[in-house]
Amino acid sequence: MGGKSPVPLLVDGKRVDGRLPEDHRPVTMRVGVLPNASGSALVGYGNTVVLAAVYGPREAMPRHIALPDTGVLRVRYHMAPFSTDERKSPAPTRREIEISKVVRQALEPVIFLEQFPKSSIDVFLEVLQADGSTRVTSITAASLALADSGIPMRDLVVGVSIGKIGDTVVVDLNKLEDNYGDGDMPIAVVYRRSWITLMQADGSWTVDEVKKAIGLAFRAAEPIYKMERDTLKGRYSEQAIVS
Ligand code: CDP
Repeated sequence: MGGKSPVPLLVDGKRVDGRLPEDHRPVTMRVGVLPNASGSALVGYGNTVVLAAVYGPREAMPRHIALPDTGVLRVRYHMAPFSTDERKSPAPTRREIEISKVVRQALEPVIFLEQFPKSSIDVFLEVLQADGSTRVTSITAASLALADSGIPMRDLVVGVSIGKIGDTVVVDLNKLEDNYGDGDMPIAVVYRRSWITLMQADGSWTVDEVKKAIGLAFRAAEPIYKMERDTLKGRYSEQAIVS
């Protein structure tokens, strides 16, 4: 965030990719893409593409992480070396460690972890293409993969990024907007319950802008939430036809 963008980010109310401020990029979703995982999903927000794989619940390893009366959720977010314009070293960075933690915290409230004492549920997130908003795309992908695995959940989670270009609040930042915009606010929404399970912010926001950001995040989350449900239903009907 910050610095001077090589191109203007907002011209006559339109963004670099032609979107209006409140427009989300096209969203794509598939579940069950990795047969050997307990659950999996591939999610695209525009050119940002994230693969999520869930393993477990399984005996927590190493043993000392196991808790006697609840399960443990572990999340690893990682960017593939080929996902960015400049090759990214495959070694985990501080940024990846931080994103792994916040994605875990965005998901924990919806999983019935108490049903799986001494066990772990492991979520691996691999960013295959990065074009902004990878952490919120990861949240949507992880939520779908968890549901695909059949782990009991209170509801699905949707990640949406909200940003600022000058004084304009915009939805779903692409990489240019993420890198050169004036504010970045990733939000995780549990749509049906009206919960927010993650909210971070860079840049300075007025109270009115924060209220607007939350409203826009819920508006953008609604069709994505419906798509998650339809994608999971489609998966199950597909299984029913096969069996
Ligand atoms: O991806 P997200 O917006 O959640 O996190 P960020 O730290 O705000 O990163 C913004 C964007 O910068 C990412 O989505 C990538 O497109 C890009 N990026 C990159 O190209 N190389 C990195 N090592 C880190 C980020």
